[in-house]
Amino acid sequence: MKRLLILLMAVMLVGCNSGSSSDYSEKQQKILEEHDRLDYANNDCEKKDSLKVMLDSDYNDNYIESYCALDIDKDDEGVNALLDAKLSDKEVQAYLDIDYVREKNIDRYLAYQKDNSDKKVKDVVLEVNLNLDEKPYEEISVIEGEDITMLVNKYNGLPEGYVPSDLVDINYTCTRGEDYSCADVDQQQLRKPAAEAYEEFVEAAKKEDLDIVAIASYRSYAYQDGLYSYNLNASGQEYADQYYARPGHSEHNSGLAVDITFNGYNFNEIENYDGYEWILENMHTYGFILRYPQDKEDITQYGYESWHLRYVGEELATYLYENDLTLDEYYATMK
Ligand code: DAL
Ligand code: ZN
Repeated sequence: MKRLLILLMAVMLVGCNSGSSSDYSEKQQKILEEHDRLDYANNDCEKKDSLKVMLDSDYNDNYIESYCALDIDKDDEGVNALLDAKLSDKEVQAYLDIDYVREKNIDRYLAYQKDNSDKKVKDVVLEVNLNLDEKPYEEISVIEGEDITMLVNKYNGLPEGYVPSDLVDINYTCTRGEDYSCADVDQQQLRKPAAEAYEEFVEAAKKEDLDIVAIASYRSYAYQDGLYSYNLNASGQEYADQYYARPGHSEHNSGLAVDITFNGYNFNEIENYDGYEWILENMHTYGFILRYPQDKEDITQYGYESWHLRYVGEELATYLYENDLTLDEYYATMK
């Protein structure tokens, strides 16, 4: 009987200690005691779970009241940096409510917000993650590896002289000399997965009476250098940068991009012809996206290119298509 009573008391004790979200762990209590805040934490802290998150990570004892006023998740970044900037709790909360805030970008968000006081915090975070607060080609990240979803843009470049490891010849290409826009190469190439998907896509389009050909696909670093320089000299920097990537920054160098036309139309007018709609609506099922859409020029930093398709694989292409996202936005809103 005595044993049973002891057991019952033990069960009741355990029961009291667990379950309530307001309890602090021993370690958390120790920290709070050290700063003489245990009473406050137990009796006056409104958001105990937020305080617990911070006590378990990177707390600053000056901000205990603020933690108790904010909704803070385990994977929220930059809480202390935002509080260091003397933002109000409401302003800090606006940042914490966006799940792609990056700690390393906090100073940039704050500076960008200062210069663009009419912008919503959500847009500030997105635009800085897109690097739009920086001039193109100034801070370059060098792309590592050969992932088919790689982001190549004015801020992310391929290593100088990069040649994809799995280039293969492709079928369904323009005839050099016949079409003014046909790439000046003996044989067009793409990376193997992109090449296979391209040929399947062209074959499916034939069933819709669309005769697609590639006018440009893989371009070497040196070829892109010549192309960019030619356009720079012929039309000036603004135009060159609007339609041509600088060497190392072209998706054509990655072997994952293909410029197309169909049924003999000028490549830069294909959006005006019947059949283009089918291309737009079906390419994602073969793993392609329209990389530089008309309504996203501020984001991609390129003019509209109705002809430039980028292979990213079926899964990501479908996700981007269904959510109306560019590849740049996808990376900028990633955790
Ligand atoms: N026309 C695209 C932007 C390129 O040069 O890669
Ligand atoms: Zn292109």
